[in-house]
This record gives sequence, structure tokens and C-alpha cells, in this order.
Amino acid sequence: MAATSDGHRRFYVTTPIYYVNDKPHIGHTYTTTAADAVARYHRMRGDEVLFVTGTDEHAQKVVRAAQAAGLDPQAFADRVMTSFLDAWDRMHISYDRFIRTTEAEHKQVVAEVFRRLLESGDIYKDHYAGWYCVPCETYFAEDALNEGSLCPDCGREVEQLTEEAYFFKASAYGNELMREIEANPERIQPDSRRNEVLSFIRQGLQDTCVTRANQGWGVPVPGDQEHVIYVWFDALINYLSAAGWSLDEEQFARTWPPSLQLMGKDILTRFHGSLWLAMLMALGIELPQMLFAHGWWVTAGGEKISKSRGNVIDPWAEVELLVEESGCTTDVAVDAVRYYMFREVTFGLDGAFSSDGLLARFNADLANDLGNLLNRTLPLVERFLDGTIDQPGPGAGELPEQIARAVARTETSFQTLDMRGMLEGIWELLAAANKFVDERAPWDLFKQGKKVELLAVLYDVVDAIRVTALMIAPVMPVVAEEIWRQIGLEAMAVPMSWDDCQPGKLPAGAQVRRGRPIFPRIDLERVRQRAAAKLQQEKTEEEEAQKMISYDDFMKVDLRIAKVLDADPVEGADKLLKLVVDAGEEEPRQVVAGLAQEFSPRELIGETVVLVANLEPATIRGVQSQGMILAAGGEKPLALIVPDRDVEPGERVR
Ligand code: MSP
Repeated sequence: MAATSDGHRRFYVTTPIYYVNDKPHIGHTYTTTAADAVARYHRMRGDEVLFVTGTDEHAQKVVRAAQAAGLDPQAFADRVMTSFLDAWDRMHISYDRFIRTTEAEHKQVVAEVFRRLLESGDIYKDHYAGWYCVPCETYFAEDALNEGSLCPDCGREVEQLTEEAYFFKASAYGNELMREIEANPERIQPDSRRNEVLSFIRQGLQDTCVTRANQGWGVPVPGDQEHVIYVWFDALINYLSAAGWSLDEEQFARTWPPSLQLMGKDILTRFHGSLWLAMLMALGIELPQMLFAHGWWVTAGGEKISKSRGNVIDPWAEVELLVEESGCTTDVAVDAVRYYMFREVTFGLDGAFSSDGLLARFNADLANDLGNLLNRTLPLVERFLDGTIDQPGPGAGELPEQIARAVARTETSFQTLDMRGMLEGIWELLAAANKFVDERAPWDLFKQGKKVELLAVLYDVVDAIRVTALMIAPVMPVVAEEIWRQIGLEAMAVPMSWDDCQPGKLPAGAQVRRGRPIFPRIDLERVRQRAAAKLQQEKTEEEEAQKMISYDDFMKVDLRIAKVLDADPVEGADKLLKLVVDAGEEEPRQVVAGLAQEFSPRELIGETVVLVANLEPATIRGVQSQGMILAAGGEKPLALIVPDRDVEPGERVR
């Protein structure tokens, strides 16, 4: 962390900037919430924090999506970027700066970087021939492709492109970069990821193509309007723009270097760990203090959760599930999802997200351990001490020591980003506090008239609750504030400062105010029963569907051969695609099909399929559907039904 001449400690933390046309999902939320927790922790310590996130808007896929929506790319980006603002607002993300790569100032910075690197000879003009994956916006070497010229990342077909282009001389920086990373292991974390980056660089950094033909979207190359700057090169520069590089030298000097740059492991090796660092070296700018790459959220089957795979988890749906099942407030549910993400999986490793797991942790950790401590302690203070602990107790046992241990663990965990270890440490304190209440039995002390001991015991427990509220505040800010309110510190205007994370600092005279339970317990049995009932209903429906029908009934179904002319995702529906098909009629028809999770639009275009042509038209998610496409598979479409030789559209199937 940079300490400046005025003695302030500064903390500059970044997330990647997200593709503007993505819908925020659990992966984006994970990176952003981690950055948020770290930023909140440093603010509590009194550090001057700059927490930057934003949107990456110059991807070619934005142009395509804008065309499909009938908008120009900028208008489209303006419209869709709000889904990130909205998501971060709802998920309690306290960013200081939301940067968009379409901002005039950022574009100016990108052009300036380019200009300087051209001048220094680090960027030069040449020809490029390569395999390009449009959805991933990435070139791949031929030997990196999967069989059948498929993208090694998303599995879709790549295109061969040859063009005049500008190259960044990354090759000149490989050795220096390797030395730098080896000498400063904390620059890339965790260790296993650093080793991946090092072995990537050891193979020899290739010069990187950093421009594309100008098709009207992107930052133009200064002095050469034929080209625009490659979206990744443009996007990485956001970290410089947000810090004021070449815009406000004073701000830049105060802010740079980033203390922590967070990202998922997929964008570490090729982009942040090599390209980005080499760019900084070429510019003569100090490297970030730490790049930290976390793992992926995967499905139960181990598949990465992503929009292109159509298996996204919407954090908001999980929040709604918690509200519905427990009756907690939406804000508490948001905090619970934040908690789950960091408690369930070691930060840095992959993990499977499961709604069942979320509900179980809500009950066990939040309703039981934390909620229970609060709900049993505050009534005791109300009953035995008139709601007030009016003088600091002497410390009646082992809790002060436990508090100090949890605080120390939390502080180290924030340095190493061991978010799970941090929460485990706090939960050990909660377990100790619950045990302490059981063992010291304040109700007996009261009966026996042992007033001094009673006060001391309750003081220590409320003090443990106070420090717990401080320690969980970075991850669960709203819950922490509610606890603060219930133990009477909000009313006393006691600030939530990290300096007070020590035992014995509960101020005298706090008036506790028991509130509604923060974490109403979920009836997991009821949840299970409902899931079983749903399964049963689906089974019955399937059986129903398998009943015999007459020949005449079958002949009523008008099955036709149709050719798919176009295919697009249906906005807001992960499973649906909107197809335009030629069924040999005067006009093509539009059909909504539940194929999106198994088939990409590109795979379907040109495919000959079987259409149920006389199905009543329906409006699905606001989109007109005239018919149905046949596919094998029950729950999930596994294969399309296609003719085994050429048949003209409109031909009857029977
Ligand atoms: N726009 C680029 C980043 C440019 S930064 C200069 C980009 N954007 S993204 O929208 O695809 O999302 C990036 C972030 O979300 C990455 O940190 C990525 O690792 C994270 N995740 C996306 N899916 C994920 C999971 N399934 N699990 C965890 N995080 C993953 O890349």
C-alpha cells in the first residue's frame, strides 16, 4: 500500500471492467464483491481508498448486438451498461469510480498510450494472419485450436483473418518481466497462478496485435483512422485512466500503483499477468503491487458458469430465493449471498455454487451461530441489566483473548485475501461466545445475585458481538449495521472503525435494542418437500404426455421441414432462442425455441429442422412464436431432429 508524504495510506483496488453487453452473473459479482470487501476494510482502517470498476464497451460483439437491437453501438452500450450499475447498487458495492471505456477522457488516455509506444518503437506496423474467435475477441495460434478449428476457450468456430495491423513489442519485455515477478512473488497471487504466468512468459512472449480494422467502433489509432485499438489493449488502460494518468498528474502520483488488482484466473496469464505488465514496463510505469486471480464458480458437473455456456447463476435469483424461504429482508439476503461466496470456497480455488448450500449455510452459520448469539444475549441484557451495560466489565474469561485472535487472523487474511480463513476465524469466535454463554449461565449468576460476575460475563459477550460486527462489516455491511443498532452503538453515534477492533472497547452506557431476528430460520424440510413435489408434478406431466393417442389425433399435427435462417438470444431468458425459419411459405416465420443452453445461434443458422407448423401461436417472454422445433431430450434438448438427406423447406413430415 502506498504511503504518501502527507502520511495517508492509500489503497487503490480494481476489478476487471466487464463486457457491457453481459448480464452481471455470479462470476462478475464474485470479483466485484471481493474488491468491495477489501475496499470497505481499508476504509474502516482510515485509508484513502479508490475502488474502481466499470464496463468494457469496445468489443466487436457490441456492434453485432446493437445491430440486432436496432441501435447504434453507443446508444446500445448506454442502455445495457445500466444493468451493471443496477446490480452493483443492489449487491451493496461501494465503488468510488465507475469507468466506461467509451468515456472521452479514457479514449484520450488510450490514444496517448498508443502514441507514446509508437514513438518509442514499442508499437510497430506489420501484417497479421491468424485465427480469431469473435465471441472471445481473441486471436489464437493454430496449434492452440481445438480439433475442427474450434476456439480453445469457448469451443466455437474461429475465423481466419489477415490484415494490416499494429503490434506491441511484448517480446522485448519477457525477460525483465520474469525477473521482476520472480523477485516480487506478491505481485502475482496465489502462488500457483504466478507459476502459470511464469511458465507462459518463459515460453517467450509473442508480440501482440493491438489493432483491428476500423469498422466504426473503438478508439481510432492516432493518425491512422483505418484501424482501431484492440479491445483488450484499450480495456487494460482503464486502470491508468481511472488513476488520472496523463490527465491529472497530481492525482496519478497520489494514486499509483494499484495496491490490488482482482480478477478471475481466465484473464490473468495472457492479459493481466503478461500483456498488461509488459505495457506498463514499456511505458516506464511502476507495476501494480498485487494481481490476485480467483477461481471459477462451476456447476455441480464442474463446468464454468458463463453466459456463452448458457448456465449462468443470477445472484439476484439467489437473493430472492433467500427472501422467499426465510422471510429476511432483501438487504440481509444480499449480505448472506456475499457471505456464502467467501465462506463456501477458498478464495483462489474453483467452487460449485449451489442454492441448497446457500440455504444450509444461512441456517447453520447465520441463523444459528450469529443470529442465535444475538437473539439470546440481548434479552439477557434487557432482563438482568435493564438493557444497559453501564460500566466496562473486567473481562470474565477467555473471550478477550479469542477476540484478539480473530482480529489478528482477519487482518492477515485481508493481506493474503484468505477470505474463507477470515470468516472461519470470526465463526470460531462466535462458537466460543455461544459456548461461554452456556457455560457461564448468566441466568444462574442472576439468581445467585452475583452481579459483578454477571455484568462481566455479559460485557464480554456483547463486546464479542461488537467486534464481530466490525469484522463482518466488509463482507456483510448491512448486517453489521443492524447489529450495531441492536447493541445500541448506532444511537451513541459510535463510528465503525477498525481501530476499535480490540477487546474491551464497548463504551459504557450502550442501550441494547433487540430487533426482529435478522436471520429468520429457513424450514429446510419444507424446502425439500416442495422440491420433491415439483419433481413429482413434472413426472406426472411427463406420464400424461406419454399416454396413447389415436392415428387421427397424430395426423392433426402438421410437421414440416424448415430451414433456420437466423437465430438470436431472447433478452432476459437464458434458455430461449428466437429463430427465423423458412418453412416453404411466402414469409419466413419466427419461432421461440428452448435451445439456448445447448446450441449457439451460430450452430443453428443454416440447419434443416422439423417444425410443428400448426401449433397455436404464443407470446413467450414478449416474443411471438409460431410453431415449435423438434429436438430429442426431456428436460434438456440433447439433439435436433434433422433429415438424413436434403429435403426442401415446407416438405411434410409424417
Ligand atoms: N472485459 C474483460 C476484462 C477486461 S479488464 C481490463 C472481461 N470481462 S468479463 O465480463 O468477461 O468478466 C470478467 C470477470 O468475471 C473475470 O474476472 C472473470 O474471471 C469473472 N468471471 C466470469 N465467469 C466466472 C465464473 N464462472 N466464476 C468466477 N469468475 C468468473 O473478461
